[in-house]
Amino acid sequence: MININTPEEIDKMRAVGRLAAEQLEMIEEHIKPGVTTAELDRICHEFTVEHQQAVPAPLNYKGFPKSICTSVNHVVCHGIPSDDKQLKSGDIVNIDVTPKKDGFHGDSSKTFLVGDASVLAKRLVIVTQECLYRAIRCVRPGAHLGDLGHAIQTFAEKERFSVVREYCGHGIGRIFHDEPQVMHYGRPGSGIELQPGMTFTIEPMINAGKAAVKLLRDEWTVVTKDHKLTAQWEHTILVTDAGYEILTLRSDDTIDRCG
Ligand code: MF3
Ligand code: CO
Ligand code: CO
Repeated sequence: MININTPEEIDKMRAVGRLAAEQLEMIEEHIKPGVTTAELDRICHEFTVEHQQAVPAPLNYKGFPKSICTSVNHVVCHGIPSDDKQLKSGDIVNIDVTPKKDGFHGDSSKTFLVGDASVLAKRLVIVTQECLYRAIRCVRPGAHLGDLGHAIQTFAEKERFSVVREYCGHGIGRIFHDEPQVMHYGRPGSGIELQPGMTFTIEPMINAGKAAVKLLRDEWTVVTKDHKLTAQWEHTILVTDAGYEILTLRSDDTIDRCG
């Protein structure tokens, strides 16, 4: 069964969603050539624990060794922060944060450009953000999850990019990864019907080349099989009576909090 949040639970999801947004706003100024992904992890960890009095849910989640995911260039998702991974001008890096507070999770990610990015990198990043926004605009009571997937897939493929199939969005609340699975491809009218009070993430991973991915030997890092660029953006969304509310909205977002 899919969880419907009470008004009290929704307040806690709003609070932790704001913490996720503030982490991504905070980290922006640290993302520049020369910084290591381990340093970004340390900064986010300290901010979460000391400043927000929250817990970084990824740390030790199913054995994940760090507090955030840092996925550079051809890394699709779940990149492990490392002292050996220095960012350089032209890279793109997805930072994925999931604070937990008062028993609830807020999950959000953004792909940043490092220094001077290529025309292709910029287009991939902006198209992926637009995929997320188009899916969010589908969210309302009575809509089906397949409507969201269809919106993402049609726009990505029109731009001649491809949608990763192996990973999806998810219900979120007291449980980090809950039902339902939120596919980033699909047919309109398919899948479950949305109801007010549901909370889930939408987190499309869009590849510049083919859709195929592979898992590295560390059993976390997911890369594109063709080693071409990939981008991802993620928000945690509440279904409201009117439509949607973005619980992890940031100041740099170019979509309204509610629709
Ligand atoms: N934040 C990721 C997501 O969007 C999950 C990371 S799980 C971890 O669902 F263990 F890799 F951190
Ligand atoms: Co997620
Ligand atoms: Co995430």
